[in-house]
Amino acid sequence: MIHRRRLPSPWSELWTLEDGRTVQLRPIDPRDAEPLRGAFSLLTPEERRLRFLHPITEMTPAMAKRLTHLDRRREWALVVAEPEPPGDALIGAVVRAAIDESGRRAEFAILVTRFLAHQGIGTLLMRELLRWVRLKRLEAVYGDVLLENSTMLALCDALGFRRRPAGDPGLVRVEWRRDG
Ligand SMILES: CC(C)(COP(=O)(O)OP(=O)(O)OC[C@H]1O[C@@H](n2cnc3c(N)ncnc32)[C@H](O)[C@@H]1OP(=O)(O)O)[C@@H](O)C(=O)NCCC(=O)NCCS
Repeated sequence: MIHRRRLPSPWSELWTLEDGRTVQLRPIDPRDAEPLRGAFSLLTPEERRLRFLHPITEMTPAMAKRLTHLDRRREWALVVAEPEPPGDALIGAVVRAAIDESGRRAEFAILVTRFLAHQGIGTLLMRELLRWVRLKRLEAVYGDVLLENSTMLALCDALGFRRRPAGDPGLVRVEWRRDG
């Protein structure tokens, strides 16, 4: 079980993991751009494919900038990082969402790197995502998951997501609706 301690800033907590490490949950920060590129460079091809759904090989500075400089009216992202100032802290996990053109629904993506996986972080980050969806009073949140990604599909099932066709035979769209 993860021991959680709230910090004074919004969406910020200190987590003590089962393996004894302490990590920080906090909103992504523009200064995370370089650490995000560093984290990307350490991903396995499998982790990249599961998260980005196609084999991207490099995170350019422009991509990292876009992923860390959010339009706060429609985008939201949390990181799990070392408890050091943004820019110095290594990043181990990210959950993000963006409200789509409908204005009532958001698309999400998540990555917990293998250095932190299987300790419950993915589940907690998805719960934070659902908290954001409720706060924003959105109708639904959805994401596309590779059919073979049984870990993510099991996790989403447990959180009450439903599975839908994604328009591509290799993908499943998982969707959580606020009205159930
Ligand atoms: C999928 C992913 C986010 C999971 O992160 P995580 O921190 O390991 O997740 P958790 O530890 O909370 O849960 C995963 C585990 O619990 C299982 N799961 C969690 N809650 C569950 C529940 N209530 N019932 C059944 N299974 C459950 C999963 O199958 C898995 O089992 P294991 O750890 O014993 O192998 C992570 O593996 C990842 O980032 N993968 C690559 C990117 C990706 O797939 N992203 C999703 C598409 S956007």
